[in-house]
Amino acid sequence: MQNVTALRGDITQIRCDVIVNAANTTLLGGGGVDGAIHGAAGPGLLEECRRLGGCNTGDAKLTAGYDLPAKYVVHTVGPVWHGGEHNEETLLRQCYSRALDLAEEIGARSIAFPAISTGVYMFPADLAADIAVATIYNRKAIIDGELDAILVAFDQKTLDLYQERLT
Ligand code: APR
Repeated sequence: MQNVTALRGDITQIRCDVIVNAANTTLLGGGGVDGAIHGAAGPGLLEECRRLGGCNTGDAKLTAGYDLPAKYVVHTVGPVWHGGEHNEETLLRQCYSRALDLAEEIGARSIAFPAISTGVYMFPADLAADIAVATIYNRKAIIDGELDAILVAFDQKTLDLYQERLT
C-alpha cells in the first residue's frame, strides 16, 4: 500500500499531523525517543503531560506538538518484553490501534510511528515489525487511503525489517 512507508530518520523532524511517542506510564519523559520528542517539543509538552495523569500500557493519550514540526503527539506506552508469555504482543498491537484511534478522532491525514518497545523495553524488533505492519495494514482508514502512515526507523536494521514487510 503506497500510503504506508518506512524511512530512516529522527521522528522529531517529521512534518506530519501526528507523531507517536514511545512513552512510559508516567508520561513525564525519559530517554530514547521519549527524550528526543520532549527535547524538541520544549517545556510546554511536559506541562501538558503532567495534567494527563499517566497512561496505562497499551493505551495512548494525545497532546499538542508544541515546538515540533508535527501538530500533535500521541503518547503510547508499549509493553516491556518479558519473554512473550505476558500478553506483550496484544499490548503492543493495542498501542498501534489506540494511536490510530486518536489520530482518526482528530481527522489526521498522516501519522508517524517509532519502533515502539524495541529499545529500552527490549521487544524483539522483528516481531514488533510484524505487529506494526499488520495492525496498520488492517486499518480501514489506511486501506481507504484516508490516512498515511510512516514507520520511522532510527537504525538500518529496523528499516530493513520494515521494508521486508511493506508491500
Ligand atoms: N526518532 C525515531 N526513533 C527513535 C529516536 C528518534 N529520535 N530515538 C530512539 N528511537 C528508536 C529506538 O532506536 C528504538 O528503535 O525508538 C525505538 C524505541 O526505543 P525507546 O525510545 O527506547 O522506547 P521503548 O523501547 O518503547 O522504551 C520506552 O524508554 O525512553 C524511555 O520513557 C521511555 O520508559 C520509556 C522507555
